[in-house]
This record gives sequence, structure tokens and C-alpha cells, in this order.
Amino acid sequence: MTASGSSSRFRKPLLATIPPEIVAVADYEAWARARLDDNVWAYLFGGTADEITLRANRDAFDRLHLTPRVLGDFSGASGTRRTLFGQVLDYPILLAPVAYHKLAHDDGELATVLGAAAARAGFVVSTHSSVSLEEIARAAQTPLWFQLYFKTDRGFTRELVQRAEVAGYSALVVTVDAPVNTMRNREQRAQFHLPPGVDAANLRGQPSAAVHQIDENSLCGGMMATAPTWQDIAWLQSITKLPVIIKGIMSPDDALLAAQHGAAGIVVSNHGGRTLDTACASIHVLPRIVDAVEGRLPLLFDGGIRRGTDVLKALALGASAVLIGRPYIYGLAAAGAVGVAHVLNILRTELEVAMALTGCPTLEKIDRNVIWRD
Ligand code: FNR
Ligand code: LAC
Repeated sequence: MTASGSSSRFRKPLLATIPPEIVAVADYEAWARARLDDNVWAYLFGGTADEITLRANRDAFDRLHLTPRVLGDFSGASGTRRTLFGQVLDYPILLAPVAYHKLAHDDGELATVLGAAAARAGFVVSTHSSVSLEEIARAAQTPLWFQLYFKTDRGFTRELVQRAEVAGYSALVVTVDAPVNTMRNREQRAQFHLPPGVDAANLRGQPSAAVHQIDENSLCGGMMATAPTWQDIAWLQSITKLPVIIKGIMSPDDALLAAQHGAAGIVVSNHGGRTLDTACASIHVLPRIVDAVEGRLPLLFDGGIRRGTDVLKALALGASAVLIGRPYIYGLAAAGAVGVAHVLNILRTELEVAMALTGCPTLEKIDRNVIWRD
């Protein structure tokens, strides 16, 4: 492992121990902001264009209110365990795929996977991880899923899938909402670039590994002509035995198509406000997608979760589990593996407290009634 805090992108050393004033995800965000330079922050924190969707993801959660319930019987409380795609999760919070963890910490995904294991959480590894998928798997003591971006070279895409299978990943999460590079104005203004020593380790030798580069002509230059279609989902299913989960669904019609194409699951997500700006908050569309698919497949959810009450709200509106993106990256940036584990523990504890105060002794008891309706 490399010495932590030595690179120039870090303005301050890693937290050696967690100070008592760090008690919430927002505290980790502040520490991460102070530690990382503006270049890295623009990438990790930012959204697309005016960041309207990025803000909407948070605002929509804050506008949902919960209904306190009292004096319920909790003697049969069964905790937060959930089985998903045949795998038992201690609690329904997973680490979302996020590219280039070395931007936040010198050890990158190796620190993350340690933190995930300590907190017994599942981790979805990005195609654009800065440590190879094999190295992460060798260090893993926790369920790993692999997030797949279709590459123009479908032969290489197949290789990625085979590598993930051989390395022991237990599900594929294919991200479909980012077929073009978008106008990340915050990144453009900061002239974002990957610092030396940070790259997409799985894609070495492949053209255009750097998704962040914005080519003004990319669309007209044929980018969408090689973008994946529903036929590619069928092809993917034909070359793998792993469950294929489609990430980046925001329309009830697409959710229905995903079900019809035999997807094992869906992640309702607007990519944390990083793709289409002014798309609505992902929590806003979740109930409509639940209604459209009528229980045909499990729905996962991400976008804007910063509190256990947010997790509860997403479960109440029909998610089987949630993913968090930026929150654990803040933990990683501030305090490495310990920070990742602490963020997960904070959210898990907050979820359990919220369950207690809304009268939900089990995950199954969490339904739309916990959300206040006027
Ligand atoms: C992402 N996200 C993402 N998604 C994906 O499928 N593959 C990827 O490589 C990345 N990379 C990535 C980088 C950064 C810096 C961020 C913030 C996000 C999206 C991610 O999986 C997830 O959808 C959002 O992060 C969820 O929103 P919150 O939890 O960050 O609000
Ligand atoms: C991002 C890509 C890598 O959001 O998914 O930056």
C-alpha cells in the first residue's frame, strides 16, 4: 500500500482517528471538501450543467415527511437483513459504482473494499475503477458486483464480463444512462484532468478510456450509433450466467421494457444528477416505476441518500435496497477504509432508528404508509 496523503491533490492528511464531531454524512462531506483540491472536487461532487437534478435529488427527499408511530410491538423485530439475487445482505445499503477511487485516496478501491468488508456491505465496482477488478476481488471479503459499461468494441466488452465472472463477481450492473459524455460545466470550468497515477485500470490499452473528456462533436461523430440498445441487453444475457441488473432507469416505460427483456433487476437512478440535467429527482419517479413493473422484478434505487431516513423513504416507496455514491466517497477521502465503514454504519444506525420511530420492526413492514400524506 502506498503512503496516504502524499499526493498533491490532497491538501490535508487523512484523518488518523475519527474525531467525535464527525457524526453524519454531512460532516464527512465537509472533511472531504477540505482535503481534496478543486480539480478532484469538481469531478467527485459535481453534476451536469446547472446541477438542477443534483439538487433535486436532495430537495425531493427533504420534502417527503415521515409519519411517527408509537407503542408498536417490536418483540419480533428481525433487523435489516434482505435477500437479493440469492445473496443475503445484512442491510439494504450497497456502495454504488463510482469511477476512480484513487482520486479520493491513494489506495483507491482497495481501501473501499476493506471498509465495505468491515461494515459487511456489498460493493458495486465501476468499469472505470482505478484498481483492476481482479485486484479488488483478491482483497474482497464482501459480495462484489461488477458495473459494466458497454464498450464500442463488443469483443472487449465480452472480455470484461468474462474477467468479472472469473474473478468471482456475483452480479452485473449494466449502466445505460450515460451513452454520451455530458456537459459537466463544473468539471470544464475546473479543467478537470486525471492526476498522474490515476487511470481506468481495467481499460488499459483501450481507446478513449477517459470518459470525462468532452468532445464537442461526439454525438455527430457517431457516438450514439455505437451506443448499446435493448438488443445488446439480450446479447449480454446470452453471454453470462450472472444476474443482469439495469442501472439508470428513470421512465416507467423503460422499466417495463427492462422487465420484458428479462432483466434480473433495475436501479432507478439519474446517475446522481450527472447525465441529463433537469431530469427529475430519482425518488420522485420511484413510485411510478413501482406501479409500472407490478412486482415483476426487484427495484434498487440511488440518488441523494444522505440519511437513514432517506433510506427508509426509498424502501417505503418500493425499493428493495439502495445504493450510495458520494457519501462513501466522502468517507474514503476523509478517513480511508475506516471512513467508508463509518459512513455505512451511520446510515445503517439511522435507518434502524427511523424504523423504530415509524413502527417498523422489519423491513417488510416498511410501506407507503410511513410517508405522510396530506
Ligand atoms: C458516479 N456514478 C457512476 N455510475 C456508474 O454506473 N458507473 C460509474 O463509473 C460511475 N461513476 C461515478 C463517479 C462519481 C464521482 C459519482 C458521484 C457518481 C453514479 C453512481 O453510481 C450513483 O448513481 C450516484 O452517485 C448516486 O447518487 P449519490 O448517492 O451520489 O447522490
Ligand atoms: C461518471 C461516469 C464515470 O459519472 O459514470 O463520471
